[in-house]
Amino acid sequence: MENPKIKRSKWALKNILEEHDQFRQYIPETRLFSSHDLAEMLEMYKMVYIKPDNWSWGRGVMRVEKIITKSGKCKFRYQSKKESFTFRSYTELFDAIERSINKKMKKRKNHTYIIQRGIHLLKYNEAIFDFRLMVQLSPKNKYESTGILGRLADPKYIVTNFHSKGTPYPVEFLLKPHMKKKDIKELKKKLYILGEEIALLFNRKAIGLDIGIDENMNIWIIEINLKPDPFVFKEIDDEKMINKIMQYRFYWKNEKKSKKRDK
Ligand SMILES: Nc1ncnc2c1ncn2[C@@H]1O[C@H](COP(=O)(O)OP(=O)(O)OP(=O)(O)O)[C@@H](O)[C@H]1O
Ligand SMILES: [Mg+2]
Repeated sequence: MENPKIKRSKWALKNILEEHDQFRQYIPETRLFSSHDLAEMLEMYKMVYIKPDNWSWGRGVMRVEKIITKSGKCKFRYQSKKESFTFRSYTELFDAIERSINKKMKKRKNHTYIIQRGIHLLKYNEAIFDFRLMVQLSPKNKYESTGILGRLADPKYIVTNFHSKGTPYPVEFLLKPHMKKKDIKELKKKLYILGEEIALLFNRKAIGLDIGIDENMNIWIIEINLKPDPFVFKEIDDEKMINKIMQYRFYWKNEKKSKKRDK
């Protein structure tokens, strides 16, 4: 796990999770990028996401769709940021995606891209949203879900990241049009427990999970982050939540310092 390549690899982290049967239902099918696999996954899911294996902030993320028009014709489309492009054939689509990837990856060593089943995320007004769950090791050495927030995308965007114009909101606010109060509470509890179980696999002081809820209220783990940003939790007005996150973080930072001193 200390291998820095694994730490940031969506693919490697997903594989660790997938080794455990109880988490499989939450993982959207993921494959390494190839023409064959993209065609096959588009056939199966009609909507997929393509993303660089080790970037963050939503950079390089694309949504790809196979669309059947009313007249029965087949079209392909991909979107990254606000721009979207439509094609009449799969070959044209794939060539365009490959060109775009090559351009982005010119100066980078790691060219790995992954394809992931697209989740039809819940929306607030016309924009998609997902959640960031923070799980931390407590001073009592137990994993504890310490915070959760919702991230609402810009209506024109296909990613919810703050660096891509997403906005943080309390979970309750975004879920209110979709669920009763009691069900929101239950869902939150379920996510907290799931996060604490998953954290046990990674042996870190903190992990962050990107969690999507689809239109049928299924839970999906979109990404595992081993260096989650604690400061985003300052953006929602929840003093208790941010205080706990900072308190646990501070505790382990101090521990590290005093260990160094004792050496
Ligand atoms: N399979 C998917 N289905 C639906 N939406 C997705 C999917 N994959 C990614 N997204 C959207 O794109 C966003 C960015 O993707 P992801 O979290 O995997 O990568 P990242 O932003 O590069 O990583 P980081 O969170 O470390 O910045 C997600 O938060 C989500 O809004
Ligand atoms: Mg993410």
